[in-house]
Amino acid sequence: MYTIKLFSAAVDFARSKLKAFDSGHDWQHTERVLGLARYIMKAEGVGDRAVVELAAVLHDIADTKFHKGAETDGGDMAFQFLTEHGLEPHRAEHVRSVINNLSFKNEFNKPKDGSQQPGSVELHIVRDADRLDAMGAIGIARAFNYGGYKNRPLYDPDVPPAEYRSAGEYKNSTAPTLNHFYEKLFLLKNLMHTKTGKKLAQERHDYMVKFVETFLREIEF
Ligand code: ADP
Ligand code: NI
Repeated sequence: MYTIKLFSAAVDFARSKLKAFDSGHDWQHTERVLGLARYIMKAEGVGDRAVVELAAVLHDIADTKFHKGAETDGGDMAFQFLTEHGLEPHRAEHVRSVINNLSFKNEFNKPKDGSQQPGSVELHIVRDADRLDAMGAIGIARAFNYGGYKNRPLYDPDVPPAEYRSAGEYKNSTAPTLNHFYEKLFLLKNLMHTKTGKKLAQERHDYMVKFVETFLREIEF
């Protein structure tokens, strides 16, 4: 059963796991995703609150950029934690599938014919929330923070943005941080599922475009 006690235990569990990550993937990121997911759920008037809130809280506990292991470890750890703490198995299973389908990398595994992948409203809500936090002012801060953490240049006119064809290529890129805007951040607006997510994404997208335009002007100065 979903209780306040279970929610608090999940928060404590996530906080302890996120300690080791860079500050773009810390507990504050998770808190913002939870806030965005709750906002979208309320605005859309759909979704199982237990699944949305628990998936948001637990979504990054084993991000493969920091956690050595399988892509599915995060969902599996969440499933085990939630069933041990008394959540109904079908809900814990749903949280597992949301967590394991969030990543931008999964976009590379989509069917090429443009058909929609199956997905629950809970997945769409949490995925939109996680992606919105990579956009706008916060998204800009997170991108440069991640680039700094990896010791990458801010920009390099000799390295044009790439169009990645596979998850592996995307993951192994060492490109300058400015390229990340073209390679991922500017694409997110069109990957939103919920109406509320699309509206928020448009505002955050426009802000990033202005930022990059200014950035390029200042480089050319
Ligand atoms: P996902 O979990 O959807 O695969 P990521 O974990 O790749 O998303 O992204 C998390 C955050 O780190 C985002 O804010 C993203 O923009 C940033 N980030 C990821 N890769 C890079 C990169 N190569 N350069 C700059 N920022 C990055
Ligand atoms: Ni996240």
